Amino acid sequence: ASTLGAAAAQSGRYFGAAISTSHLGEAAYVNTWTAEFTGVTPENEMKWATVEPNRNQFNFGPADQIVSQARSRGMKIRGHTLVWHGQLAGWVSGLDASNLRSAMQNHISQVAGHWKGQLYAWDVVNEAFEENGTRRQSVFQQKLGDGYIEDAFRAARTADPNAKLCYNDYNIDGVNAKSTGIYTMVRDFKSRGVPIDCVGFQSHLGSNSTLSSYQANLQRFADLGVDVQITELDVGGSGSGQANVYRQVTQACMAVSRCTGITVWGVTDKYSWRSSDTPLLFDGNYGKKQAYTAVLDVL
Ligand code: XIL
Repeated sequence: ASTLGAAAAQSGRYFGAAISTSHLGEAAYVNTWTAEFTGVTPENEMKWATVEPNRNQFNFGPADQIVSQARSRGMKIRGHTLVWHGQLAGWVSGLDASNLRSAMQNHISQVAGHWKGQLYAWDVVNEAFEENGTRRQSVFQQKLGDGYIEDAFRAARTADPNAKLCYNDYNIDGVNAKSTGIYTMVRDFKSRGVPIDCVGFQSHLGSNSTLSSYQANLQRFADLGVDVQITELDVGGSGSGQANVYRQVTQACMAVSRCTGITVWGVTDKYSWRSSDTPLLFDGNYGKKQAYTAVLDVL
């Protein structure tokens, strides 16, 4: 196959990119996205600060632009994200526990409800763990306690019963304290029937990232009975060093049958959130990089 999306489809997987509404007016951006990719994650447009900037006042327009273009092309859409300490609307952190609990429930039911039946997956909870494997002391954790994560998953299942519900995090690209903390939570959720379907591995990496236990880590999660996805892949660097890391990540996903797809965190280095790291598959002129060929070769 001659595109990332078509190559991934040969094994039933998708290959997605994070997309920003702000670049949809640029023809080369849209052309590269729609020619190469079969999946999309709105880079910022579904985050709390954007979709519910004031309590119970919803702004779905920016994300709707991406969703409608993606749907017309039959892409898989990953919703990102319902509950996260980052890019959170300011009003949320001032609430007391009972108001925070109802605000979280309302946010999930309104936002997941808005796109009900249209999304492949939701990152229901994002980045809730510390590097040492304990819970991050976010406003949700501090005011609601450990139960907020399972409450969020239950609310998301009610709001959009057909979306795959994922937990998503970074620096879990191997067997380590953080990934083990999350593994223990997922195992507990599965044993108690908390509705979780997938784990997202952001995979913001560099050319010197060590990936010796990357595949084994994906596999141990898959063995719990959840799908796994690479959700925000980017690799700082250039040339063969960068290409090798992309190759290893892609090979790991291909080797794990429950790894259902890969999403890179942007189309072109020009608009990457780590722009100075030139971490994506297309350069600033939408030229295919060595990393692109490495990925295409192993899909
Ligand atoms: C980043 C976006 O790419 C930036 O445009 C924004 O300014 C900050 O957030 N982990 C995540 C993503 O889950 O939502 C983040 O996206 C990158 C790190």
